[in-house]
Amino acid sequence: MNFDEKMQNYLDILKSATETDEAACAELRAGRRQGAKEKFSRASALYARAASELLELMDMADPSEWAEYQKSVERLIAVSEQMKGYAEAAGDAEKGTKAGEAGGAPKTVPGNDSEDEEAAFAPVAEKPKTTMDQIFGLEDAKQIVMDEIINPLLYEDVYRRYKLENQGGLLLFGPPGGGKTMMARAIAAESGYAFYPVRCSDIVGRYFGDAEKRVRALFDAARKDKNAVVFLDEAEALASRRGGHSTVMNRLVPELLSQMDGFEKAEGHLIVIFATNRPYDLDPAFLRPGRLATHCYIPLPDYRVRFELLKKQIEARPCREEIDIAGFAKRTERYSCADLVNLVAKGCHHPIHREIAARKSGAESTDSFLTQADLERAFQTVHPSVETEEIRRLEKWMAQMGIHYKAA
Ligand SMILES: Nc1ncnc2c1ncn2[C@@H]1O[C@H](COP(=O)(O)OP(=O)(O)OP(=O)(O)O)[C@@H](O)[C@H]1O
Ligand SMILES: [Mg+2]
Repeated sequence: MNFDEKMQNYLDILKSATETDEAACAELRAGRRQGAKEKFSRASALYARAASELLELMDMADPSEWAEYQKSVERLIAVSEQMKGYAEAAGDAEKGTKAGEAGGAPKTVPGNDSEDEEAAFAPVAEKPKTTMDQIFGLEDAKQIVMDEIINPLLYEDVYRRYKLENQGGLLLFGPPGGGKTMMARAIAAESGYAFYPVRCSDIVGRYFGDAEKRVRALFDAARKDKNAVVFLDEAEALASRRGGHSTVMNRLVPELLSQMDGFEKAEGHLIVIFATNRPYDLDPAFLRPGRLATHCYIPLPDYRVRFELLKKQIEARPCREEIDIAGFAKRTERYSCADLVNLVAKGCHHPIHREIAARKSGAESTDSFLTQADLERAFQTVHPSVETEEIRRLEKWMAQMGIHYKAA
């Protein structure tokens, strides 16, 4: 068998394993413990076989990919062990029930567990209040978002007159702490749509098959609202390049794509937004026209944004003396917005300590204020969290993708 045939064989085994696993859970829910026990045992054996197939594939793969393969093999073995445990637990529970003992199914049986997880995952809509005006700078990004995402939905008839239609979802990418989440929330607020924020790491659940169920649950929930924004944050956790080694992704990516392709509704609209710090890790299938056609870079803040953000953060604090905001804005090149928020927060610890000490000593006036010196002290400890190398990598990816961006 060549590599591709072997890979197909492995995927087929994995598919049977997950189907058997799901069937076992269904048996359990229906109270058929004997059936569940048999199916869990079979699923355990199938996962173990998938693991050994994957080991053989690993031998044929490029050494640079071995670590990834290794991780998947370990995970498959762990799942196989888990299935064995479930089979035993289902058997024990049955014995218990037969003997007329109280208690029913032990906690380790997944019927209960996965229901708990499903409940824990229930996607909930939010109604964010962040407006575009509250986002400093990012003029290019705002323009793209208004032209490509929001206005085509709010003024559908005008766009139709000009023979322009909605191009699908939006990809927000850029270094950490730059305002991607804030932008997504503003899109929901500006459009008035219900906001469904989800971390992709939460979608990839503990059990095989969970991830697809969760994607469906998410889109089903969003579809119930007339208009909704589905925000898939940390997309790199979910949408990484499909390769033989990435078993969850192999099943999940097609599910997500089909949900995205099928999201046109008779009435109402769904906006799908992905956010990531590592767009180069995304499966290229996501970036095709009609999927995430609009790509929007959220860069690190320039001087003006740093100034505005520091000003807003400092002015919200008790402060009497003049603080050299312009000076801090100049000295914080390469700081992300999150770093700047953190800088001011850390600075506030000093007056808080002073105030607490004064209260403890019973001083008459215990009011404290944030000072230039407090922020200077914080500046010694808060460093930029984004490496220059990370920015270069993003810019290189943009160049490859033909995304134009002019650094400020
Ligand atoms: N342009 C901006 N104007 C005002 N505040 C901003 C701006 N960008 C970010 N912030 C603030 O900075 C912090 C970090 O922003 P946010 O969480 O949106 O970043 P992110 O890009 O989603 O980061 P991550 O990649 O870590 O998820 C938040 O407190 C946000 O309110
Ligand atoms: Mg974020």
